[in-house]
Amino acid sequence: MPNVVVIGAQWGDEGKGRIVDLISEKVDIVVRYQGGNNAGHTIVIGKEKVVLHHLPSGILRDGKLSVIGNGVVIDPKVLLQEIKELIEAGHTADETNLKISDRTHVIMPYHRAIDLARESMNGKGKIGTTGRGIGPVYEDKAARRGIKLADLIDPDALSNRLKEVLDERNAYLTKVLGGDPIEFEEIFNEYSKYGEELKKFSCDASKLLNDSISEGQNILFEGAQGALLDIDFGTYPYVTSSSAGSGGASPGTGVSPTAVDTVLGIAKAYTTRVGEGPFPTEISGELGEKLRQAGGEFGATTGRPRRCGWFDAFALKYAAQINGISSIALTKLDVLSGFDKLNICVGYKYKGAELSSFPSTSHVLDEIEPIYEEMEGWGEDISDAKELSELPAQARKYLEKLEEVTGVRIYTVSLGPSREKIIFLHELFS
Ligand code: IMP
Repeated sequence: MPNVVVIGAQWGDEGKGRIVDLISEKVDIVVRYQGGNNAGHTIVIGKEKVVLHHLPSGILRDGKLSVIGNGVVIDPKVLLQEIKELIEAGHTADETNLKISDRTHVIMPYHRAIDLARESMNGKGKIGTTGRGIGPVYEDKAARRGIKLADLIDPDALSNRLKEVLDERNAYLTKVLGGDPIEFEEIFNEYSKYGEELKKFSCDASKLLNDSISEGQNILFEGAQGALLDIDFGTYPYVTSSSAGSGGASPGTGVSPTAVDTVLGIAKAYTTRVGEGPFPTEISGELGEKLRQAGGEFGATTGRPRRCGWFDAFALKYAAQINGISSIALTKLDVLSGFDKLNICVGYKYKGAELSSFPSTSHVLDEIEPIYEEMEGWGEDISDAKELSELPAQARKYLEKLEEVTGVRIYTVSLGPSREKIIFLHELFS
């Protein structure tokens, strides 16, 4: 059985949670490899709606192991609450089905404080972060002053580590950002309790995953955010602070890249983004609002209204190339019912010339003129269609066009949030 990486192929919020939930039926282990509780993966099972922030979307499937890899950053208080709520809702989330790498970095209160203070200080230049401390915790990891789960669960290590880093962080928080300092005692007492509670989940996840592969088990590597929010290949600086592309799966889990067999990209039938940054196909005014309302485009983590736009095939082609995406799970096609005309962006023009590659800077992207192909829309409600042949001809043409201009085949088309509202076009696992 193959090991698959599942990533968002746009700017996040493509509906990864439900697709991971779907495919997780066929794998043994689901591992998250980057991001933290900036993610919000929504899964609808019957009448139940679950939004996961830290936990792999496989946690809702019985008999599957969920792993939080070392590339993820965890906010212990939020994670423990998430686990508690899941258990209260009748699901299993204990040491039998959940493991966390002891190398995973921990989001501390000063990370959140720095994130929020910077965003309010930056005014117009802000990134529009989720305010969860994601940038500052990854900065600390790279600056070698991070705190890992292995430290959190060991009171002596936590105390020593905090003593090493807290003064410097407080100086930055107070002198540069004008915030309040964080007291050692307070943070130590609170966080060592979280460590105690999380201890049972902590393990050498890299060894666990590699041993499992050797035993013939298969793994789904679950990405968070999306390819265009990747720290290296996204629309920098309006990106998240981790490797949200498929390449992050290896350093984020400790499993060799040679273990990955295929990459599945998730894309909406149109495009959305939250936060600041360039968005060449954004639709303003009434039409954009119509799409936002039809798609319920409000953030699962922050509730912020998402910016909405046409499908950007040029950006998707770029995402497919750098991430090795061989198939796309297309979500929310039903939302496009009732639009007379649909645009697909097939190229970018910059200063009058057509570009051959995706720009590396946001200021160029801001000045892009999208090249559109206009398609006929359809009026019918398609949410109950069970087969491709039940879709209106215009919807089928729209799908064919997407495959043609992106060069990537469509694996599934989803027509609603629940598990059964999906049409399979071909096999992912053969
Ligand atoms: P951060 O990850 O909180 O630092 O936010 C950086 C950028 O990534 C902002 O534009 C956020 O809106 C965006 N972002 C972070 N996580 C997600 C996500 O799960 N879905 C969509 N956008 C996200």
